[in-house]
Amino acid sequence: MMLTDKVAVIYGAGGAVGGAIARDFAREGATLFLTGRSMEPVEIVAKEIEAAGGSAEAAEVDALDEGRVDDHLQSVVDKAGRVDISFNAVGIPSTNLIGVPLVEMDVERFVLPITTFTTSYFLTARAAARRMVANRSGVIMTVTTLQSRTGYPTAGGFGPAMAAKEALTRQLSVELAPHGIRVVGLRPQGIPETEALKEAYQPRAKASGMTYEQFKELAASKTHTRRLSTLAELANTAAFLASDNASGMTGTTVNLSMGTLDD
Ligand SMILES: NC(=O)c1ccc[n+]([C@@H]2O[C@H](COP(=O)([O-])OP(=O)(O)OC[C@H]3O[C@@H](n4cnc5c(N)ncnc54)[C@H](OP(=O)(O)O)[C@@H]3O)[C@@H](O)[C@H]2O)c1
Repeated sequence: MMLTDKVAVIYGAGGAVGGAIARDFAREGATLFLTGRSMEPVEIVAKEIEAAGGSAEAAEVDALDEGRVDDHLQSVVDKAGRVDISFNAVGIPSTNLIGVPLVEMDVERFVLPITTFTTSYFLTARAAARRMVANRSGVIMTVTTLQSRTGYPTAGGFGPAMAAKEALTRQLSVELAPHGIRVVGLRPQGIPETEALKEAYQPRAKASGMTYEQFKELAASKTHTRRLSTLAELANTAAFLASDNASGMTGTTVNLSMGTLDD
């Protein structure tokens, strides 16, 4: 097991990505502190992990609430002694934020993904870093989309939001790596098992005169594998990145686009 004795906090753990990461980290031996804006989905994941013999505790934490993020993380450190891994898997509904060309978009809809994603990543990373510095050890992680590196029509503010998160990964790393803290991201292809993919593709499919299925097939056709990502592939890579086996990796976002994007 790659994460034995590691203490991991996950933000957005009730979501598809956060839940998959949580289950995988638990299977690899980590003790999980799961958080989300709504308690119910987070509790479901925590109970599943406990039922499978793992250790997971659920808490309601809005990852945009500076005080709550800080208080919760302090409670984790008070209880578990430290925090080794912080994973931000927060995602917001995209339906009303995409599918419209930028020239027709109002500023509120444009900036919402940018401020939400960057603020929650900054707050959760900063809270973790402040505690990890004392141990000279820790891994801060998040997830982005291909929009960080290439233009997609009608993706609104999501492209700039994802590019900003990847820039923040690099900037956190250059400041924190000298203190023994690694900062790494993951950039998967779309994941058809998730509701969020449907939400993200449907307005863009409609804007291009396609069905969701056609749009999904088009995206898959642009990969070397001719298929999109799975949650298991993302979670397995995340567990490796979170582990000491990846000690040489920091300041980078791992390209899981399966060939769609060149490095
Ligand atoms: N799904 C994909 O195909 C895919 C591919 C590449 C990258 N990603 C990235 O992965 C991340 C998660 O995606 P997902 O598919 O797991 O989406 P999801 O299923 O919609 O999950 C997102 C989670 O974030 C939570 N959340 C939203 N705002 C929050 C806040 N302020 N504080 C705490 N939790 C908050 C949501 O809780 P509530 O429901 O309570 O708001 C939800 O549980 C996103 O950043 C997305 O861009 C996803």
